[in-house]
Amino acid sequence: MQEKYIDETKQGEAYAISEKQGNTKKLFLESYGCQMNFSDSEIVASILRDQGYNTTLNSDEADLILLNTCSIREKAEQTVRMRLSQFKRQKLTNPSLTVGVLGCMAERLKTKLLEEENLVDLVVGPDAYRDLPNLLKETEGGGDAINVLLSKEETYADIAPVRLGGNGVTAFVTITRGCDNMCTFCVVPFTRGRERSRDPHSILKECEDLSLNGYKEVTLLGQNVDSYLWYGGGPKKEFKNASDLQKATAVDFAHLLELVAQKVPGMRIRFATSNPQDMDLEVFRMIAKYENICKSVHLPVQSGSNAMLKAMNRQHTREDYLELISKAKEIVPEIAFSQDIMTGFCGETHEDHLQTLSLMREVEYDHGYMFAYSERPGTPAHKKLEDNIAPEIKQQRLAEIIKLQGELSSARMAGYVGRYHEILIEGTSKKNQNQWKGRNTQNAVCVFDKSPDQQIGDLVMVYVYGNTQGTLLGKIEQTHLAN
Ligand code: 5AD
Ligand code: SF4
Repeated sequence: MQEKYIDETKQGEAYAISEKQGNTKKLFLESYGCQMNFSDSEIVASILRDQGYNTTLNSDEADLILLNTCSIREKAEQTVRMRLSQFKRQKLTNPSLTVGVLGCMAERLKTKLLEEENLVDLVVGPDAYRDLPNLLKETEGGGDAINVLLSKEETYADIAPVRLGGNGVTAFVTITRGCDNMCTFCVVPFTRGRERSRDPHSILKECEDLSLNGYKEVTLLGQNVDSYLWYGGGPKKEFKNASDLQKATAVDFAHLLELVAQKVPGMRIRFATSNPQDMDLEVFRMIAKYENICKSVHLPVQSGSNAMLKAMNRQHTREDYLELISKAKEIVPEIAFSQDIMTGFCGETHEDHLQTLSLMREVEYDHGYMFAYSERPGTPAHKKLEDNIAPEIKQQRLAEIIKLQGELSSARMAGYVGRYHEILIEGTSKKNQNQWKGRNTQNAVCVFDKSPDQQIGDLVMVYVYGNTQGTLLGKIEQTHLAN
């Protein structure tokens, strides 16, 4: 999936079908927001498959409708509310239908969702999915059920996700949950709780199983993958009290990357999301060392202005960020970066905005996800700062940032023209049934004509002869299968 965030104006994605013989009940599961939610939905489907539910893509035939929701911006919540009103009408004709909200909105709004206009029967936060079987029993007599407890330990390490999303080639594997960074604008630390890392053994096992099942690419997921630290479990801050043995055998993110790269050498490895203040140069050394770790890093910056970064509590300056980028480029000359940028934050001046544009030009990002600031209730920014940039100014700055990113993306794509790239075939191009689509190591999408000897999951050498703003145009010269 090239898009990190599903466009909030579109409906969430209802996932493909998971079938287990003998299951009679039908679950319609729709996910919104970040990749983490899509990955969590696969855990939910796994838990519910053992409770007699197969998934369906048709909400009309569902016994249970679950929306895995996002709270990151107000618009994301509005989209879910509209969807819930549709399902409320469906409940009028089918009173036995159960409708539930999972994910960040469940955590943020808690009982409000049950109280407000009776929109839902079930509210379950991101750390409480194991409790779904009990909660569903509670709703059986027509009652409501809620569990929004956050955990310091839950990583769902032992639950084998049902692979719903996809193409059978690329998959997500969660390695950390939660975030301790407390960027002032962000609701995530409140909805997903404290940072915790998953047992590396279970991560390696999941990657190995994926490889055995024919998968060719794995994306290691977390709100903040660079803070991954395993020393036996529990929040990272408790590492200070860990025993000497625990410290000596601890696994950090760079080490984990190496373990995965060695365990599944025939698989491509990607990861998201990184944070400048937590990133170690060792991660780039691993990218340089292992051919199967992709040369692309998603490194949100949010703003190019130190004043804004400070107000956002980002724990890094513009200079820190640019230094990290330049050292990374020295270690991995072919590396590509993508960004998250948020414009119109509290007090942002025109000069701050210009600083963002100049940072973008310096980094020369391949790709970006750009947003206007949306105030979130309960966050430090909401409590202490004034959301004082007029909506028109936010939109104007956003348009300038998007336009510049378009130019930078075009230039980066043009730089890939005129040479061969190793492309993993992920599926048929949406625009042309006769073409494949896949990505190179830098995560740039490439389309090229199909030939009969190729199939989804093949790694092929493609000659790139041209480009559009976001896509490489290729032609096949020589095929070799992935190991
Ligand atoms: N308003 C707008 N964008 C936000 N993001 C996080 N919180 C907000 C908010 N309140 C953006 C940031 C982050 C990405 C996941 O979403 O750019 O990196
Ligand atoms: Fe939010 Fe900052 Fe954590 Fe990202 S690093 S999830 S923006 S608090």
